[in-house]
Amino acid sequence: MQTKKYPSVGKNKLQKFDDMCRFPNVFQYPFAALQEKGFEMKGHWNEWFFKNDHPVVLELGCGKGEYTVGLGRLFPDKNFIGIDIKGARMWSGAKQAIEDGLTNVAFLRTHIELIREFFALGEVSEIWITFPDPQMSKTNKRMTSTRFMQLYSEILKEGGLIHLKTDSPFLYTYTNAMIEANRFPVRVQTDDLYHSRLADEILSIQTFYEQQWLDRGLTIKYIRFACEPREAYVEPEIDIERDSYRSFNRSKRSIK
Ligand SMILES: C[S@@+](CC[C@H](N)C(=O)[O-])C[C@H]1O[C@@H](n2cnc3c(N)ncnc32)[C@H](O)[C@@H]1O
Repeated sequence: MQTKKYPSVGKNKLQKFDDMCRFPNVFQYPFAALQEKGFEMKGHWNEWFFKNDHPVVLELGCGKGEYTVGLGRLFPDKNFIGIDIKGARMWSGAKQAIEDGLTNVAFLRTHIELIREFFALGEVSEIWITFPDPQMSKTNKRMTSTRFMQLYSEILKEGGLIHLKTDSPFLYTYTNAMIEANRFPVRVQTDDLYHSRLADEILSIQTFYEQQWLDRGLTIKYIRFACEPREAYVEPEIDIERDSYRSFNRSKRSIK
């Protein structure tokens, strides 16, 4: 007799996995396949998928992909790719992009650490990092650490921009120190976006996590800087006060 195939996975999640395999705007690549033959579209996203020569913009740790889809709507003359390891979250953005007929939007399911396997040197014009975990104990896992800057600088075009939106005073302070230590040019920044004059239709796109943090009364910080290649990257030596609210456990933070 046939037993239930995936006892710990909800039906809804299974349906999403199925959809993700069928969605034409989603790329999921098992690590084994990547090791065996590499990613054939590396260096050819525009030619083979988007079929234009528009700038390619990434959203890293995109979750449900609110920025990827929102920017896709605002800028038909740019191509947007949301990247995350969690497929069930990404499903929402991929589905929305299909329903909206956004041919300039795609999603890639992978670890950000592998990004150089998917994009060629200089293939990317801008990177958005939206509400990443600040990783207060693990610099190496922090998405604005010099380890990641090195990866980003390899796929970014000269003068390529990084946008960070965060609720975290810790991550904002760290990122500023990292930028200063590496002399990256800052283009725009604010430690309170919605009380600044910067909150235009681009910066007012709100992600799932952002909405939760706003509901808790937190201020949103934003910084845009150019990630220039350096021979050696300097990790800032700085003691940063930890975000007190992050010592709550997940359920208390009410973000699932
Ligand atoms: C705090 S959530 C933010 C999601 C979304 N940007 C938002 O604001 O709602 C961080 C996201 O980054 C993804 N993520 C964290 N580390 C990652 C990694 N190394 N590679 C790929 N995705 C990662 C997680 O799966 C998660 O969806």
